[in-house]
Amino acid sequence: MCGIVGYLGNKEAYPILINGLKRLEYRGYDSSGIALFNGDMEIYKCKGKVERLESLKNKDSSSASLGIGHTRWATHGPPNDKNAHPHVSNNGDLVIVHNGIIENVESLRTLLIEKNYSFKSDTDTEVLVNFIEYVQKEEKVSLEEAVRLSLNQVIGAYAISIISKSHPDVMIAARLGSPLVLGLGNKEFFIGSDATPFLDHTKKVIYLEDGELARISKQGISIRTIDSDKPVDAIIHQLQMDLESIEKGGFEHFMLKEIYEQPTSIQNTIRGRLFPEKNEIKMAGLEMISSNLKVANRIIILGCGTSWHAGLVGEYLIEEFSRVPVEVEYASEFRYRNPVINSNDVVIAISQSGETADTLAAIKLAKESGACVFGICNVVGSSIARETDAGAFTHAGPEIGVASTKAFTAQVTVLAMMALYMGKIKNKLTKTKFREIALEINKIPEKIESILKLDSAIKTISKSLKGFNNSLFLGRGFNFPVALEGALKLKEISYIHAEGYPAAEMKHGPIALIDKKMPIIVIAPLGGLYEKLVSNIQEVKARKGKIISITGFGQSEVKSLSDAVIEIPDTLDCLSPMLTTIPLQLLSYHVAVERGCNVDQPRNLAKSVTVE
Ligand code: AGP
Repeated sequence: MCGIVGYLGNKEAYPILINGLKRLEYRGYDSSGIALFNGDMEIYKCKGKVERLESLKNKDSSSASLGIGHTRWATHGPPNDKNAHPHVSNNGDLVIVHNGIIENVESLRTLLIEKNYSFKSDTDTEVLVNFIEYVQKEEKVSLEEAVRLSLNQVIGAYAISIISKSHPDVMIAARLGSPLVLGLGNKEFFIGSDATPFLDHTKKVIYLEDGELARISKQGISIRTIDSDKPVDAIIHQLQMDLESIEKGGFEHFMLKEIYEQPTSIQNTIRGRLFPEKNEIKMAGLEMISSNLKVANRIIILGCGTSWHAGLVGEYLIEEFSRVPVEVEYASEFRYRNPVINSNDVVIAISQSGETADTLAAIKLAKESGACVFGICNVVGSSIARETDAGAFTHAGPEIGVASTKAFTAQVTVLAMMALYMGKIKNKLTKTKFREIALEINKIPEKIESILKLDSAIKTISKSLKGFNNSLFLGRGFNFPVALEGALKLKEISYIHAEGYPAAEMKHGPIALIDKKMPIIVIAPLGGLYEKLVSNIQEVKARKGKIISITGFGQSEVKSLSDAVIEIPDTLDCLSPMLTTIPLQLLSYHVAVERGCNVDQPRNLAKSVTVE
């Protein structure tokens, strides 16, 4: 996700800002920029790494002791020089950096265009800085009041920092839904998306809270609430964490941080797209291919690894809601088996990185055959995002851990919304059913929050697994793909051999493997085929398998049959993969830690398989 850094003090701002941006690189980015105020505003910004930004700096320019900087993780508009932050208002006075998404950007843009404003970039950020300029002119108020009034008109999530030519010793910072930290030095002040950019300058910090705006000057910091303009008595904290632990948000590994990010990442996936009461899904990419979807007789889903598992969940969702046949293919097989591809097929290509070579090649093959290809990616500007005819970004934020977690639940969330959209345009989904499912999707983040509270109990269970060398994951229906995904998680980070199976398949061979040395993880949420799964658990129990069950609250029969039970909230059967996968992610994580494995960079694996 984006990174913000700011400095106001008595030192040279440039080296502090550049080093601060380098400290934020771990967050993932595609472009960067800085603004320096030295009597005039000096702005450098470009696509690519911070090193490229450094090469742009005019070495002869006069020194500046005020400035802001930004690393961009693209959400609105592709990664390029013009979309990089900072952005400047039309009158050249205001300069802004921003992390987040402005949902009502189009209505603000329309208003500003009517007032003869123009835009150089595709970003929501440039709209915001011009809206602030407009409000300041219209209301004839101070800079901080113009920012406050403007933010009261904004819908969405933001962390912003603003400086102004006409206010040479002031920095404004404000946040709602994206983090911002203020650093207090000796007659100098810092801003950061976290404390990493200025940790070696000061460990005295103020955590700006949601709905707060700070005015920072050499006289000090004043904080007020954005909605009611009330003063806030800020608490100054003395940081104890070191640099590395801050980058991981205080978690031991990126993977655990990303597992815990899922309530937020799913909210970001849904944001501005799901409208239960209007019976509506708003996704520009789907609008672009709606005519293709209307006539499609078949959907082909392509992916690798976890993305392929998400595709399997997508198959069950799309067929259930729209009655359109779906085939899910490993991209690596599809590209070489001379598949039958019809021109009215719609192909969905799923990829977190957007750079997986097999998936990219399979997309090109499908396009050569005239099929329409829709991409579901997490990285804006990635090769797959650019190659597909249309698409939807998962907005899960950078996924650093090699084992995919939040990307999977975000992919399934996009597929669920896509299935609703298709069910509606195919007239196969009643308004009542659409609303029921859409309302339940909105409840998923809070239900994941409650599952994350089981972490220590799951850690205890993981200790009983660490000594085994084999395992079986069983699921049925919507949770068969989750059995595959849970097995992949365990095998790729703990190196325990793990297989996922449709539970009913046990009697066709795998049951021969079961004895007391074989742990069996059974995914048996309430609803769906729960009763069938209970009898599958009984079959395993009769052969002395060690059973760990994931089920609903108070299921005494499953409890009596299992060696360990993880009870999770109920949801609709079709949405249960978004919940049942969470305990499996945590279980695999803790087993790998117990076994002393390198959780974030498992042996032999890469985060993105960009070669065959
Ligand atoms: C998942 O935990 C693995 N890291 C791997 O299977 C991954 O899902 C696969 O390589 C596909 O990557 P992509 O989603 O970036 O295309």
